Order: sequence, then structure tokens, then C-alpha cells
Amino acid sequence: MAQIIPAPPFDYVVFGALGDLAKRKLFPALFHRERDGQLPPEACLIGAGRKALSNADFQALIRDALIEHGGADSADPNVLKRFLGRLSFHSIDVSTANGFGTLAERLAPTKHRPQVFYLALAPHLFAEAAKFLVQAGLNHDQARLVLEKPLGTDLASSAAINDAVGAHFREEQIYRIDHYLGKESVQNLLALRFGNVMFERIWNAANIDHVQITAAETVGLGERAAYYDGAGALRDMVQNHLLQLLCLTAMEPPSVFDAGAIRDEKRKVLTALRPLTGASALTNTVRGQYSAGLIDGKGVPAYADELGVPSRTETYVALKTEIDNWRWAGVPFYLRTGKRLPARYSEIVVQFKAVPHSIFEGQALSGNQLIIRLQPDEGVKLRLMTKDPGPGGMRLRDAALDLSFAEEFALSRFPDAYERLLLDVVRGNSTLFMRNDELAAAWTWIDPILAAWQDSPDAPELYSAGTLGPSKAALLLGLEGRTWHEETRG
Ligand code: BG6
Repeated sequence: MAQIIPAPPFDYVVFGALGDLAKRKLFPALFHRERDGQLPPEACLIGAGRKALSNADFQALIRDALIEHGGADSADPNVLKRFLGRLSFHSIDVSTANGFGTLAERLAPTKHRPQVFYLALAPHLFAEAAKFLVQAGLNHDQARLVLEKPLGTDLASSAAINDAVGAHFREEQIYRIDHYLGKESVQNLLALRFGNVMFERIWNAANIDHVQITAAETVGLGERAAYYDGAGALRDMVQNHLLQLLCLTAMEPPSVFDAGAIRDEKRKVLTALRPLTGASALTNTVRGQYSAGLIDGKGVPAYADELGVPSRTETYVALKTEIDNWRWAGVPFYLRTGKRLPARYSEIVVQFKAVPHSIFEGQALSGNQLIIRLQPDEGVKLRLMTKDPGPGGMRLRDAALDLSFAEEFALSRFPDAYERLLLDVVRGNSTLFMRNDELAAAWTWIDPILAAWQDSPDAPELYSAGTLGPSKAALLLGLEGRTWHEETRG
């Protein structure tokens, strides 16, 4: 049974409150916490944006967003009323400092409680916003700053953002969101690894053949051309989400479950990743870009047509990396992510080695496989060799122990990642956020790959939308006698 631990009274100020993220994710997430009775009566939610908007107009706008994205139409009308009653709008201009003084006046009476400033803004505005908050006297002991990605496009630009914000707020006050860390199933990876005795002893190069991490999407470019074409799949998904999954899979057991210990261990993994530079970057990575095709039987245009101009931006990446430490020496980690693939799913597959000697003559024995399904159908599946029932001799085949979280815990819905993360900020718990040095380590590893691609005359390989991605991605494993795990359900 879920336990609802009420949050302390707080103020949440969402900069960029009229933007897509705020409407699709942030306010719906807070609304669900309201629905579960987690928001204290005194909690205030302030939308901040450049427009001059009345509170009533803002509330109407968020109500529509909640109906579209937050299931508000099926909620108790009193809950919706209570939630909307917490909302107000504050007109502010992050480029001129207009509105910061009046924001400080509004917040002054509650200054002793957590005040969160969520910057759902373009990153070039982070430092200015942080500076104006300080000048307005809004940086106090209980003040927290949340930064949305993208935090830079390479190590230098990310360091510049972090330094500029760091000049105004202490590292402990800064919460860098990677929403993958808020997913229930990602947190469950920690429970699985460190709450059970059976995995840790075999979680190493002696027993594991390789690991695959996949984040596949059916969506394409959508409305995000301006951002996405300058980023591409490596920056958009690998640098943050996939590397974080790799860290949680590969890290050493921390001695305690706290932000410092977990983030220390994750950083160690990132710094032990074997660098992919020059030729090794080109042979160990595959880039693709979708062309026109079919998704769920419906025709979709090519990336370049959606964009309106030719582009070398990758919408698909597959890569092979290794972790140079005792635990993982020689174990390949294969990562892949792409847009316009046939199905949306994310999973981690740990492929164990086959038994060293078979006593079952003539029987092919495959190694065990642990499949951690992150979404959808969250759960864990363990493939084991079993005897095929019935007569016919000792015939073996593999079968799965299958744990579906929805069935096991009778869940009607999985909380969205933001629900957990937004309230973690209020509680001052930064375990599921990225620390400055982790981010730097991730970019340090990504930069040489970007440089190698930049110097290469080759463009990303085209793949038809609705197919499994570029053919070279299959070869990345195929040449080593392995295949990608394609099963997504059942
Ligand atoms: C975001 C990326 O961080 O994650 C998007 O910018 C991507 O491009 C999204 O679609 C995927 O998140 P999820 O939770 O749907 O797997």
C-alpha cells in the first residue's frame, strides 16, 4: 500500500509556467499529489511568466491542462477546486529583473519555509534568474533552485551554466532534474540490487556476459525542432537518462542510502567509462535518422521533412562501452535510443553467461537473463532454464519468472516521475538529482563522441520510421555474436 507522507508547508514558484513542460508535466504532477492528500493546506503554487495574466485566467488555463494531461475530469471536483485555489500568477521578466521585487514581497511572510524556484526556462536564462532571485533577497536557507535540462550542449557550456548559477546558489540548493531518476521502476533497480542478496554476488564480469539498455520511442520531432535539431539523441537521451541507468546498474553498493553516497558511486562509474575517441568513437557508435514510414499503421514524414531542411542530427544512437574497473572488466554495455521506433519501451537487460559445463547432452543452454522493464508494463522478468514438461527425455528450454508491478501491487496507475521529484525538492532530498560533478563526468565522456561525429564525413544512416533503427545497430552486437533483446511484452 502506498504511504502518503504529508509535505511541510511550502511555496513553489514555476518560472515558464505557461510553457509546455509546466502544463503537461509539472502542474499535473502537483495535482496528483493534491489528489493523494499530500499537499498541506498552506502550500502555495505560483506560476511565473512574462505575460500579464490574472489569477483567474491562469487558473482556467491550468484547469484545461489538468483535464488534458492530469485526468482532472475524473477527479473529485472539490479536489480540483482546492488545487486551483492554491494557484496564482506572477508576471516576471527574467531578462530585465522586472517582477522579482514584487515576488519577494509576496513571499516575505513565508520566508522561513521551503521556497522552490523551478526554472522551466531556456538554460541561457538560468544564471540571470538566479542572480535576480539573489538581488531580490530570495536566496535564503530554505530556498531551492530546480534546473531543467538541457544543461548545456557540451562540457564547456554545461560548466559555464553551472558556474554562473553556482555563483549565486550553493550546490546543495541546486536540483538538476533527470526525470528518469524519478520513475518508480528506476528506483526499483536500487531495491532489486541492494535489497536482495541473490544478485549482488553474481553482479560482475565473472557471471555477466553483457548488459543492454534501451529507451525506444514512437514519437518523432513534434514541436521541438528548435531544441532537438541542435541536440540530437546523444545529448537528449544518452548523456543524461541512459548514462544514469547505466550508473545505477553498474555502481558499487553505497554504504548508506543517501544523496552523497549514491552520487559518489554514480560518479565513479562515469569516470571509469572507457573513453570513445576518434576511430574508436566511430566503430563503437551508430547514428541514425528516421525517414518516412509507418507508426501504428499511420504514415509519418521523414525527420528532415518535419524540420523543413536537411540535417545531420541523429534521432537514433546505439553504442558499445566498457567500464574499466574490477567488477566490469571486459563486459560490454550496449546502449540504444531512438525516435520513431515501432514501440515505446525502456528496459535494462542483464545477460548472464551460460553454465561453464553442461551435463545435458545435446541441449543448448542459454545464459539467464534479467530483464528490468522500466516502461510500460513495469516489472522484472528472470529467464531461467527449465525442464520442458512431459515425456520425451530431459529436454530443457528457457522460461520466465515474471513479476508485473501493476498486478502484484494492484496499481491503477504509476505515479509520474515528476510527482516524486517535485516533492523531493520540497523535502530537501537530492538523492534522485544530478550533482555538478556527475554532470561534468557525463559530458567529459560524451564530448569526444560528438567531436568524432563532427569530424566524420558520414551522415547518420537513414532508417524508416516504424522499423528497428539503422542496420548497423544490429551489426554492433551481431559482429560479437550477440543480438538486441526485442521482446517488449508478455
Ligand atoms: C526527454 C527528452 O528528456 O525524455 C525527450 O528530451 C524524450 O526527447 C523524453 O521524448 C522521454 O521520456 P519518457 O519518460 O517518455 O521516456
